[in-house]
Formats: sequence, C-alpha cells, structure tokens
Amino acid sequence: MPTTRLFTSADAPELAALVRRNRDFLAPWEPERDESYYATETQHARLQHALREHAAGRMVPLAILDDADRIAGGVTVNSIDRGAFQSAAIGYWVSESHNGRGLATRAVAETVRMAFTDLGLHRLQAETLPHNTASQRVLLSNGFTPYGRAPEYLRIAGRWQEHILYQAITPSS
Ligand SMILES: CC(C)(COP(=O)(O)OP(=O)(O)OC[C@H]1O[C@@H](n2cnc3c(N)ncnc32)[C@H](O)[C@@H]1OP(=O)(O)O)[C@@H](O)C(=O)NCCC(=O)NCCS
Repeated sequence: MPTTRLFTSADAPELAALVRRNRDFLAPWEPERDESYYATETQHARLQHALREHAAGRMVPLAILDDADRIAGGVTVNSIDRGAFQSAAIGYWVSESHNGRGLATRAVAETVRMAFTDLGLHRLQAETLPHNTASQRVLLSNGFTPYGRAPEYLRIAGRWQEHILYQAITPSS
C-alpha cells in the first residue's frame, strides 16, 4: 500500500483538524503562522493553490496516510525548476501521534522515486535545522547527502536560523 497520495481540496477539513492538533508540535520547525492558518477555509484555499501549482507542473502536494488511510502528515515537492536545473525542493511533516513508525522515511522514499522516475528530475534538495535529528535521519535513509550549511537560511519559529543543506541526485544520471 502506498503511503502517499495527491491531496484533494476535499481533504481540507481533515487537514485543518490535524494542523490544529499539531500546532505546538510543529511550531519549532515551521514559519510562524497567523491564527487564520488553522481555519478550514484557509487550508482549503492553500490546497486549491497547491493543486493549481501542481497542474502547472511546479509542485506535487502529497498527503501522508496511516494504516487506516487517514491523513497523518504531508510531503511536498515544490520549486520544480526545469531547464538546466531539473531540480526541486522537498519538505515534509508527520503528526506527533504518528511519529516513530517510519512513516516519514517511507513517504520520502516514495516521493523521491516519483520525482526521479515520473517527474524525471535530476536533483532534489532539502534543508533541516542543525538539531532536527529525526529529519536528518529521514534524508540520510533516502539517499540525501549534506553539502553545506547556510547561516540565516530560513525564518523558522520567528528567527532566521542556520540550516544544513542536503541534496540527492538521481541514480540514473
Ligand atoms: C521529522 C519528522 C518528519 C519525522 O517523522 P517520523 O515519521 O517520526 O520519522 P520516522 O519514523 O521515519 O523516523 C526517522 C528516523 O528518525 C529517528 N527519530 C525519530 N524521532 C527522533 C528524535 N526525537 N530524535 C532523534 N531521532 C529520532 C527515528 O529513529 C528514525 O531513525 P532511523 O531511520 O535511524 O531508525 C517528524 O518528527 C516531524 O514532522 N517533525 C516536525 C516537522 C519537521 O521537522 N519536518 C521536517 C523539516 S526539515
């Protein structure tokens, strides 16, 4: 059974409930969110935007599913750059209630396969905070290697924070 599938806009109520339940858990790892972010209407608008970007070939927004086919998180391929780059960025999260079951590792494995085979990309990049050991394990298990550190790279939890930069190159290139 696949662990990922394309989000649909009908997922908005379930997704909004999940981000509300994970508000405190995700806060140290994400940009600061307005109160409105947690509303079902906002999640619906975000999904519609993501699906338009998907249709334009710039993004692949995927739900991560648990054994009962409930949404347990998300993994996104974004900033798809064709031309000479053939590269994209990957980001992911898994609900606190579902951590430690290998879900992120499996979902990223599926996404990397899809990006290199179906999308035909050459490279994927990802970044983690230096103390995000779990996320680093997910990347290392999926063929990513660290290639540098960038100071003040992303504004996470209200502060510009250093990140470790990772990339994976398609095995067939
Ligand atoms: C990072 C995250 C996606 C991991 O999800 P998960 O489904 O629990 O990950 P997995 O079960 O596949 O475990 C991945 C690895 O991390 C390890 N791990 C899990 N929690 C850990 C922790 N708190 N500290 C250190 N290692 C941890 C697991 O043992 C596993 O290692 P292994 O492959 O050597 O066995 C999840 O914790 C999360 O969403 N965190 C908040 C958002 C976030 O950090 N997103 C990524 C931003 S770069």
